[in-house]
Amino acid sequence: MSNVLSPQETMLQEVLHGMSLKQKSLPSKYFYDQRGSELFDEITKLDEYYPTRTERKILSENLVEMSSYLGDKIQLIEPGSGSSEKTRILLSGLDSICCYIPIDISGDYLNMVAEDLRNEYPTIDIQPLVTDYTRSFRLPEIHSNSRKIVFFPGSTIGNFKRKTVTRFFEVVSEIAGKEGGMLIGVDLKKDVNVLEAAYNDSRGITAEFNKNMLRHLNREIGSDFNPDLFEHHSVWVDDPGQIEMRLIAKEDHKINVAEEIFEISEGEYIHTENSHKYSLEEFEEIVSPWFKVVKVWTDESDYFSVQYLEPR
Ligand code: AVI
Repeated sequence: MSNVLSPQETMLQEVLHGMSLKQKSLPSKYFYDQRGSELFDEITKLDEYYPTRTERKILSENLVEMSSYLGDKIQLIEPGSGSSEKTRILLSGLDSICCYIPIDISGDYLNMVAEDLRNEYPTIDIQPLVTDYTRSFRLPEIHSNSRKIVFFPGSTIGNFKRKTVTRFFEVVSEIAGKEGGMLIGVDLKKDVNVLEAAYNDSRGITAEFNKNMLRHLNREIGSDFNPDLFEHHSVWVDDPGQIEMRLIAKEDHKINVAEEIFEISEGEYIHTENSHKYSLEEFEEIVSPWFKVVKVWTDESDYFSVQYLEPR
């Protein structure tokens, strides 16, 4: 019998584990069912949520300079590419991209996006790769005379646990090779009010996004989380420097997950996400075993950064 778990079995194991911790916790990757992805898309358009528009602006305004660092014939590799939204800024603005390798775990969606990209950019070789990019993986051997640039926008790095960050940079430095590079979006530390407003928006879209995870879990593993019995709250935690998303129980109640019953008291919370923010120095130190920071672009408020790294 195979001992490889199905996605549902993995989800169940992770939820049982997270709910039995002293500090109850659910993995943030389960935000993203169809509805969750739509809600995230809405979040990125909110006034209070500065990261997406700020990163887009930094990319658009500095393309020429970025291009001089990236080289004149590049293979652009994007782990967790999703809709390849921000990549289009590079694909449209840089003549040097000969090939684009979007990488995602969701094969159907990836192939659909790749088809659209082939129509939009007929001169770029689009080579989608379906894999879990947090594990070690191999790239197709193509365009051997081009430079490998890994693009990782959105400050997704801020949602990783410290151990995953380490593993990720290890994998990426192997993928890019000694001659390659990386272009990464990193959200920066700033006024706590700005940060907390971005994750507690006034229209309640982030609250919906947070509670939607419970609906997603109920559908997939038959748990009975009641989203109405929770209140969304995001808070800045100074040490280690992250926004934490929480679902706070409005009253004492019980939650059934498979055969297990978990009790939660009024005021107790389930932790659902960390969104780590860095100072430029902190980020430089984190990547330093694998990469050196060659160039940093920021916006005029220093809210967000796009950084160009080269392997050590
Ligand atoms: C995907 N990620 C970078 C977002 C962030 O800002 O940490 C996820 C998010 N959570 C709440 N709002 C947005």
